[in-house]
Amino acid sequence: MGNISLIGFMGSGKSSVGKELSKLLHEMELIDLDDYIEAMTGRTIPEIFESEGESAFRELERVALENIFMTGELTGTSYILSLGGGTVTTEACRKAVRSNTACFYLRASIDTLVSNLEQWPGDRPMLRGRNGLRSRVRELMADREPLYEETAHHIIDVDDNDYAAAAVKVASLAD
Ligand code: S3P
Repeated sequence: MGNISLIGFMGSGKSSVGKELSKLLHEMELIDLDDYIEAMTGRTIPEIFESEGESAFRELERVALENIFMTGELTGTSYILSLGGGTVTTEACRKAVRSNTACFYLRASIDTLVSNLEQWPGDRPMLRGRNGLRSRVRELMADREPLYEETAHHIIDVDDNDYAAAAVKVASLAD
C-alpha cells in the first residue's frame, strides 16, 4: 500500500484517526507532522511560532514533508501521515501531499470543531489571543475549506467523533 495522509482542521481528529489506522495497517509507519517537526528542530511548535512566526513554521512543514517522502522512497517505507491543520495553506505542500499520498480530508462542522477544541484545547498558536474561538474557527475555515477539498482524494465525515470507524473507512478506500 502507498502512503496515506490525513488532513483537516485542528480538532477534527487527525491524530486519533492516525492512531486507529496504524492499528489496522501494521506494516505502515505512523508520522504526526507536528511531532516530526519538533524532533527535527528540537523545539516545540509554540516555541517555533513565538521565535520565528507562522511563515517559518510553514517552511518547516514543507521541508519535513520533502524529507519524509524522500526517505520513504529510499527505504521503501509507507507512511500514515497525520498533517497539521494549516499544512495545506502552502501550495508546495498541497502538491507534495496530493502526488505522494492517498489524501483524506477529515471533515467536521464548525460546531464539532469548536466543541472538540473546547474539550481538548492544547497549545495552538493559531487559536491564541483572538476574540472568541468560534469566530476564529469560522475565519480560518473559510480560507482553508476549499484547500482541504482541493487537496484530498477522499472526504470522510467525522461529526460523530467515531475515529475507529473513520479509520476503517480510510483503510478500505486507500490503495
Ligand atoms: C496549525 C495546526 C496544528 C499545528 C500548528 C498550526 C494550524 O496542528 O500544526 O499549531 O495552522 O491549523 P493540529 O491540526 O494537529 O492541531
